[in-house]
Amino acid sequence: MSKVDYSQKIPNNVNLSDDRRLQRALENWQPAFLNWWDELGPVDSTDYEVFLRTAIDVSGKGWAHFDMVRMPEYRWGIFLADQEEGRKVNFGAHKGEDAWQEVPGEYRAELRRLIVTQGDTEPASVEQQRRLGRTCPSLYDLRSLFQVNVEEGRHLWAMVYLLHAYFGRDGREEADEMLQRHSGDADKPRILEAFNVPTLDWLSFFMFTYFQDRDGKYQLSSLAESGFDPLSRTCNFMLTEEAHHMFVGETGVGRVVQRSTELIKEHDTMDIRQYGGIDLPTIQKWMNFHFSICLDLFGQEKSTNAANFYNMGLKGRYQETKIDDDHQLDNDFYMVPEIEGNKVVMQEIGALASINERLRNDYRDDCQRGVDRWNKTISEAGIDYQLTLPHTAFHRNIGTFADATVSPDGNVISKEEWDANVNDWLPTAEDRAFVESIMVPVTEPGKMAGWIAAPARGIQGKEPDFEYVKFH
Ligand SMILES: [Fe+2]
Ligand SMILES: [Fe+2]
Repeated sequence: MSKVDYSQKIPNNVNLSDDRRLQRALENWQPAFLNWWDELGPVDSTDYEVFLRTAIDVSGKGWAHFDMVRMPEYRWGIFLADQEEGRKVNFGAHKGEDAWQEVPGEYRAELRRLIVTQGDTEPASVEQQRRLGRTCPSLYDLRSLFQVNVEEGRHLWAMVYLLHAYFGRDGREEADEMLQRHSGDADKPRILEAFNVPTLDWLSFFMFTYFQDRDGKYQLSSLAESGFDPLSRTCNFMLTEEAHHMFVGETGVGRVVQRSTELIKEHDTMDIRQYGGIDLPTIQKWMNFHFSICLDLFGQEKSTNAANFYNMGLKGRYQETKIDDDHQLDNDFYMVPEIEGNKVVMQEIGALASINERLRNDYRDDCQRGVDRWNKTISEAGIDYQLTLPHTAFHRNIGTFADATVSPDGNVISKEEWDANVNDWLPTAEDRAFVESIMVPVTEPGKMAGWIAAPARGIQGKEPDFEYVKFH
């Protein structure tokens, strides 16, 4: 079951050939996907041969095969984690019932909405990142970009499979619309705001894969708890792939930080832009921006929708089954932030209504771990500077803080004070112009752009100077 069948037009481990109707429907969607990839996927990549991994199995070790692949010939497929024998609905009103193998009729609309919202982010990120290949800091990094891109494309396949297999005609329509909405499109934008801003420089790409892909991890983890078993199995395998995307982000930012500390020491100044490096306050601003827009992705602090999804057994908490409580939460409470006067205070509300906030907090803790490692690099270099995640209330567009002006350290401030300081907190047009100005392509194997350190090791046992991308 877990082996992937590559003899099929659409590689899969779901016995697609046993269901001719479904197979035909997906084979009809396939050219539209390839067409989308051609038009809105990575620019110039048609002739590139890239050292990419492809899933060949879904069970534990050795699930991926690495080889040089011509980009448009990448085999996007449908891979679900193996079915867990006797799995139950583990939370909400249906707790203890057998997990659903078909869509529960009364929750059809909610389930479809969850799948569409998740699915929409996958092609969106490919669209956002499509021009980055032109300014890659190394072949190693160019490979990372393409690896992330092909797998986000595959994640779209994962969600489209669920829509086709379980939602009939309206599922097929939703699958078509996944290729009709586009990142930043004035008429048909992507569903979530953070997926409508283009990723124009590589510092943004590394921040994206650190912060935004990690939002993906938390969304997928809570969907992997779903009582709807095919969604759970789909998300479980996506999480296996997602780990590498976050690795790209964490090591990417880490290498920028490392290079910056080297330049600071070499020239004995924090002002390293003149030496082609990215100064630490600029890295902090990028972090402030990406972290705050990602916090919005978790939604309102108090949410009836989230409470309903939980009660229905559709979307759980992070690592639901490892939490020691009744998994129904009718009599539990949780603290959410609230503005009182000019202070952010904590307020106790029902646990069900605060599901989003809880996931946001889990996410924040996870984000902090990488920041600690970056700070270690800075302090080990003997430099007196710390990167800090901004306060939850800083620069928010959704929820309690949407209309508030709050400083990165969590003080509610006046609009005037915000205006006077915002240029120190968020990237300015000038900052962006500077970072873009140092994004010059480096395509000689083993060579790195001057603003980033070399990776500690290569990919899959290859040396860092391996020719990860051949241009032809
Ligand atoms: Fe993804
Ligand atoms: Fe990802």
